[in-house]
Amino acid sequence: MILATTVNDVKEQVKVWRALGLSVGLVPTMGYLHEGHQSLIKRAVEENDRVVVSVFVNPIQFAPNEDLESYPRDLDADCRLCQETGAAMVFHPEPSEMYAEDFTTFVDMTGVTKELCGKSRPTHFRGVCTVVNKLFNIVTPDRAYFGQKDAQQLAVIRRMVRDLNMNLEIVGCPIIREADGLAKSSRNTYLSDEERKAALVLSKAIFAGEKLIKDGEQDGEKVLAAMREIIEAEPLARIDYVEMVKWDSIEIYHRADVPVLVAIAVYIGKTRLIDNFIAE
Ligand code: PAF
Repeated sequence: MILATTVNDVKEQVKVWRALGLSVGLVPTMGYLHEGHQSLIKRAVEENDRVVVSVFVNPIQFAPNEDLESYPRDLDADCRLCQETGAAMVFHPEPSEMYAEDFTTFVDMTGVTKELCGKSRPTHFRGVCTVVNKLFNIVTPDRAYFGQKDAQQLAVIRRMVRDLNMNLEIVGCPIIREADGLAKSSRNTYLSDEERKAALVLSKAIFAGEKLIKDGEQDGEKVLAAMREIIEAEPLARIDYVEMVKWDSIEIYHRADVPVLVAIAVYIGKTRLIDNFIAE
């Protein structure tokens, strides 16, 4: 497996693969890889001749008050996981390789980025769209893989690819959970033992909401109220949002009679965790 740190090295290697007629898949990540990422890499390996995993903690998607500095990093472990899973390359650039000092071009979006995480993290998706666009230009993948855990991000990237006529397929992959239900996330490492237990209210609320809709409840207000009640019963939990939106447009919509995304963001102590389900 190749470890590339420069844009040029990636481009040169992709050129070689293209000359051999090989297809290329991309799994963009911020590293500290877990089974959630691994499921994306596995799927990419099944569907492409060569797979590039980018490991880059993208500074421009963090607000000044967020966890850029403390975001967990372990490149050696990431490389081992990528190699074991069959990736051909890890791309791990320094921030200066991705952003020149006078970098001023951004990809921004309205509508789909307005609610949910876009509301609590107003500059986040501009940073995500910009870096993902750059990664697409550097790797020129046939397919790129994103987890449904970041459901709004998946909707945002799909919209960007459609709106800007990008030549690749976006593949969304299911949420991977711990045995007790907690959605896998690199940020779970921030949790103390007590917080780790408290964090189960997220998946509990998600499963309860999902069951209500499956059992025929269409009233979004009722579903969201039931979910809020579960979370509010946990003293260590503080709700950022518990919302229902249309899955394609991410507009607030409180009736489960079209495909809806039910998404939550909850602080457990200082750690902000997200989870969701899609009812189609
Ligand atoms: O989902 C993530 O880890 C990041 O937002 C992404 C897509 C790698 C962009 O930095």
